[in-house]
Amino acid sequence: DFCVCVCMCASVRYMLTWWKRNWFLGADIAASVEGMLLTLRGASISAIRRSGLSCGPKSGFNNINLQSSTVNPGNLKTIDDLPGPSLATTAYWLFVKGYADKSHAMQVEHRRIYGPIWRSRFGPFDIVNVATPELIAQVIRQEGQYPVRTFLPHWQEYRDLRGQAYGLHVDKGPEWYRIRSVLNPKMLKVKEVSVYAPVIHQVVGDLLRRLELLRLRSHDQDTVSDLAGELYRFGFEGISSILFETRLGCLQEDIPQDTQRFIAAVGEMLALSETVLFFPRWTRRFLPYWARFVQAWDDLYDVGHVCVLVARKLINRKVEGMYLTYLLSSGKLSLAEIYISITELLLGGVDTTSNTLSWTLYHLARDEAAQERLYQEVSSVCPERRLPTTEDLTRMPYLKAVIKEILRLYPVVPGNGRLTVDNEVVVDTYWFPKKTQFHLCHYAASHDEGEFPNAEQFLPERWLRQGTNRFPHHPYSSIPFGVGVRACVGKRVAELEMYFALSRLMQHYMVQPESRSTTLEPKTRTLLIPSGPINLRFLPRA
Ligand code: HEM
Repeated sequence: DFCVCVCMCASVRYMLTWWKRNWFLGADIAASVEGMLLTLRGASISAIRRSGLSCGPKSGFNNINLQSSTVNPGNLKTIDDLPGPSLATTAYWLFVKGYADKSHAMQVEHRRIYGPIWRSRFGPFDIVNVATPELIAQVIRQEGQYPVRTFLPHWQEYRDLRGQAYGLHVDKGPEWYRIRSVLNPKMLKVKEVSVYAPVIHQVVGDLLRRLELLRLRSHDQDTVSDLAGELYRFGFEGISSILFETRLGCLQEDIPQDTQRFIAAVGEMLALSETVLFFPRWTRRFLPYWARFVQAWDDLYDVGHVCVLVARKLINRKVEGMYLTYLLSSGKLSLAEIYISITELLLGGVDTTSNTLSWTLYHLARDEAAQERLYQEVSSVCPERRLPTTEDLTRMPYLKAVIKEILRLYPVVPGNGRLTVDNEVVVDTYWFPKKTQFHLCHYAASHDEGEFPNAEQFLPERWLRQGTNRFPHHPYSSIPFGVGVRACVGKRVAELEMYFALSRLMQHYMVQPESRSTTLEPKTRTLLIPSGPINLRFLPRA
């Protein structure tokens, strides 16, 4: 019996892991589930009108508008009327059909079977999936004043244990917004972000030197193996140089110990995040997971903390202008809030840009025409390898189209979450109570043939305004950074890093696949990542 119990635990845990991988940054569902165990049938439909007045969609595609007098709430269906797989069917998909690390592909398949909106159940988890741009827009437009992805009780518990501030991911409502509104200005305004251009260029310079070294060391003096790993170091160095005003040296031969510690801790924390949530508290006395989870967070926080301390000393010596200086001098956040915010920005800013750049180079290497067009654009705007300025970037539409197309094909966050906190909502022809957990199936939406003809093909020109092949698409069909007040705080920084890195790589190298016969599929591991190493040849341009 014990064995059966352990096996059940193991497989349930495996399923939980799978579910967990659908959510942004290890966001966990279980906590929100407690709140979701609501009786839907007894809920008062008349409340829709009241809540609708405050939360209805702002403008319309073909939305049901709660404010519209043509909506008859009495006719709306409830979550119980939604189609969707049973627990057994889900288990079959995961374990027999092999979708455990392909949840992005399962979005597409389930939409085909159940339609654009369906319910997934897993034990106590109750999730409403929406997989068309229109329905995603409806959810986002009703997300309320302080949107919530999902609750993270174990992150909160750790912060309580160590007496730390909650930060962006754990704080809710006006407290979350207070922190966000301090972090936003120097992260999200294009003009403000351009201050970081010189430091990003330095980091890109290091990346180019590092790639040159690796290429010359390789068996054919051209190939860089496992490019994603190198770009991960670039992502870390890029974001930390902006945040801390100091260089950590991640692109040096020997990565500093603290950097290694941070990188290892990111993986450990995300991997353990669902496990600690699954096992009851009393098991912590003899199971190692909670202790390891705490250790991983300790490492993350320590590194962030040390970097802030070092940077503060430099600031006292009048090194000015970067993000931390701004946070410290704003006087709007406590030191504890600054430590946790910096740690969270690091956490969000590393493998997102690196994976996107990895996929970009992978596709350009396989599409000579696209690469040539990009090269021509970059060299016409910045001849003789002049360093691009932010102003130059405004004259590089194809560069931006390439990144947009990659983020459409491989949205780093393939499925996001929204937990309706403030309001009851109406999506499609269904009414949902407060605390409904929605899963926004961005991957399915951005791979929809109706929105993007030849959706599986890499066609950057579809994003060009003047292009003859420009396809009209719904504004929510590809929203890789999210939209609204809760959208990615690092969007502008990420774009600047990727534009500078890509344009300068093009100035210096022509990229080719090491082997044309091997193609790579994405896989889901919280984020959408390449399922194998990307090895490319870097041929210097004359
Ligand atoms: C290709 C690059 C990136 C992509 C595609 C991306 C995507 C996303 C997405 C989809 C979200 C969730 C938005 C929502 O729930 O509506 C998010 C949140 C977040 N991102 Fe990014 N991100 C990227 C780069 C970055 C960078 C460079 C940073 C750090 C500077 C960063 C920091 C964050 C943080 C802190 C949040 C949480 C914001 C909050 O909850 O208020 N991201 N990102």
